[in-house]
Amino acid sequence: MKTRFTEAFGIKYPIVQGGMQWIGRAELVSAVSNAGGLGMLTALTQPTPDDLRREIDRCRSMTDKPFGVNLTILPSVNPPPYAAYRQAIIDSGVTIVETAGHKPQEHVEDFKAHGVRVIHKCTAVRHALSAERMGVDAISIDGFECAGHPGEDDIPGLILIPAAADKVKVPMIASGGFGDGRGLAAALALGADGINMGTRFCATVEAPIHERIKQLLVANDERCTNLIFRKFHNTARVAKTQVSDLVVELSAKPDAVFEDIRHLVTGAQGRAALESGDIGVGLVWAGQVQGLIHDIPTCHDLIERIVGEARAIITQRLAAIAGPA
Ligand SMILES: Cc1cc2nc3c(=O)[nH]c(=O)nc-3n(C[C@H](O)[C@H](O)[C@H](O)COP(=O)(O)O)c2cc1C
Repeated sequence: MKTRFTEAFGIKYPIVQGGMQWIGRAELVSAVSNAGGLGMLTALTQPTPDDLRREIDRCRSMTDKPFGVNLTILPSVNPPPYAAYRQAIIDSGVTIVETAGHKPQEHVEDFKAHGVRVIHKCTAVRHALSAERMGVDAISIDGFECAGHPGEDDIPGLILIPAAADKVKVPMIASGGFGDGRGLAAALALGADGINMGTRFCATVEAPIHERIKQLLVANDERCTNLIFRKFHNTARVAKTQVSDLVVELSAKPDAVFEDIRHLVTGAQGRAALESGDIGVGLVWAGQVQGLIHDIPTCHDLIERIVGEARAIITQRLAAIAGPA
């Protein structure tokens, strides 16, 4: 399968595994890249920039295919040392980065100055165009369906992807709600050059999380998410659990402040939930695509299946419907 994205990034299939806190580790990333997709390590999953250097080395020992690193820039009272993480990425000779979050300019400029190709992930056409002006090499556009931070505009992929495709000139991948070959064919039809997936890759053999979390993603349907943090203008989509239900309930009180929910939503608790399989101890981030997840394949089998389905839809089903020109 050949698109502007596969050509620009030297990969076999137009399928990216987006950065995922606590999950974007070498096991998953190398499995995705070895299967012909593009895996992304998650920089901030590593406690220090030096740990990130070691994780990049570890990933290199597990694949000789291209992989990237996600750098997520979120507003924070105590921000992590972003510049040091960025330097670790550059020093390690990584050539592909996925930036996500607020004000990426300083990072994009430094990466570009060092020959690193940047895919900026964002949730609005105006942000995509602003990143394009900064000189990014590709855009990943994340619709309202997505796990993580869908932004505050609530525009689903069916509108957001073609709206962005009409204006963005660099290669663009569609993100949010993708999990099978129907989604890949649809994304291509809507004008994207490939897809980015998060939640679907969590339910794979190689995802470094507890089996019970993978089974939860299989058991859940498309209604099993909660939107949290809306009141704090930092909306996030997570799996519907007792913890996220409680966050919703507490946040709905008219005088609610972030301190009321902080004890439920820390990163350490989310990590504990993923590692122990106990969804009572922290948030589990997941998207509406849970409704399309029915098994736990290897990354290789998942990617081959998605590509095979998309090919069949395009060359058989749609070709038959279209008829001769
Ligand atoms: C468990 C989990 C953790 C995530 N953590 C991050 C993150 O740290 N940085 C980021 O840019 N995106 C993060 N995301 C978002 C994904 O990279 C991707 O954009 C999103 O999952 C796409 O939507 P989908 O889940 O419907 O495929 C996370 C997603 C999940 C499921």
